[in-house]
Amino acid sequence: MTEIAALKAGLLADIEKADTLERVEELRVGALGKQGVVTALLKTLGGLSPEERQTRGPAIHDLRQGVTDAIAMKKAALEQAALDARLASEKLDMTLPVDVVPEGSVHPVSQVMDELAEIFADLGFAVASGPEIEDDWHNFSALNIPETHPARAMHDTFYFGDNYKVTDKDGTPRAMLLRTHTSPVQIRTMTSTSAPIRIIAPGRVYRSDSDATHTPMFHQIEGLVIDKGIHLGHLKWTLETFLKAFFERDDIVLRLRPSYFPFTEPSVEVDVGYTLVNGQRVIGGSGDDDEGGWLEVLGSGMVHRRVIEACGLDPDEWQGFAFGTGVDRLAMLKYGMNDLRAFFDGDLRWLRHYGFSALDIPTLSGGVGA
Ligand code: PHE
Repeated sequence: MTEIAALKAGLLADIEKADTLERVEELRVGALGKQGVVTALLKTLGGLSPEERQTRGPAIHDLRQGVTDAIAMKKAALEQAALDARLASEKLDMTLPVDVVPEGSVHPVSQVMDELAEIFADLGFAVASGPEIEDDWHNFSALNIPETHPARAMHDTFYFGDNYKVTDKDGTPRAMLLRTHTSPVQIRTMTSTSAPIRIIAPGRVYRSDSDATHTPMFHQIEGLVIDKGIHLGHLKWTLETFLKAFFERDDIVLRLRPSYFPFTEPSVEVDVGYTLVNGQRVIGGSGDDDEGGWLEVLGSGMVHRRVIEACGLDPDEWQGFAFGTGVDRLAMLKYGMNDLRAFFDGDLRWLRHYGFSALDIPTLSGGVGA
């Protein structure tokens, strides 16, 4: 056996025995690397006589080819084996039973609040909030409901005891209470930010009242716009646009009725028309149609000059409108529930039925049209 044939046999045997990719690489460097034995032989070719080159040349090239091929094959075989081993160990058994993770659902009140925030965001309104434990200045006095005003009695207020009174900067004591409406957020926004203002304020409110349509805690959403040259037309357009987007219908008909709130002048109560479909009230259409009627959905009006003044703004320069509505009631009308108390019973069966998937981002089919 020639020296080259012996070298080849030895290298091929080593490659055959190699059982790791590292070992194969080590052998490759030893044979074909810069300082490798095969490389060294190839370098000698240049110095050979033509006759020697005739015989040794093909042998050396055959050696290089044989070693290169053997290394490539061994590498591929080892890689395949590694992959097979991984596939075998990482195999998933698709037939194994899966633990069902209990999934919560979004309460209709939260869902409706999200929908309202989305609709009003499209109209350029920011979301504002205020405390649920209020003082009687923000809840009543600043809203033009002085202490002796009969409207205070209308609200069935939960008061905190005298021990919880806070004292004003000027020494006047302020009674503390659970806010009876979201309107104090109007005051808090007007006194803490500068006009123009466009906000909605969703949140919990409290009144001492309980039957099928009243619970001691419920939810309202307040709207407030303060700007220059604002008039009743802006209010009507805003409410119409919002109710169309919320009920996802174009045939929403509003009826504005004169009303009274101490903090708006003029005050307007807003009814929305419904039609009877298979004996069910469905929002949409004129309530004056044969099968129709009107449902009161909102209280609203132009912000009273005295309220604007109480917040330190000049009512000759700034005007605005405000509205307030019950979130629970809107949810009942849109999603067809009829007992308000069920909203707060915490009955999981009710929630499973009326709740919304947490993974659905509230999107209203059309949004608020441009
Ligand atoms: N705060 C009033 C209520 O609770 C609703 C309302 C808000 C009316 C804003 C007019 C303007 O009944």
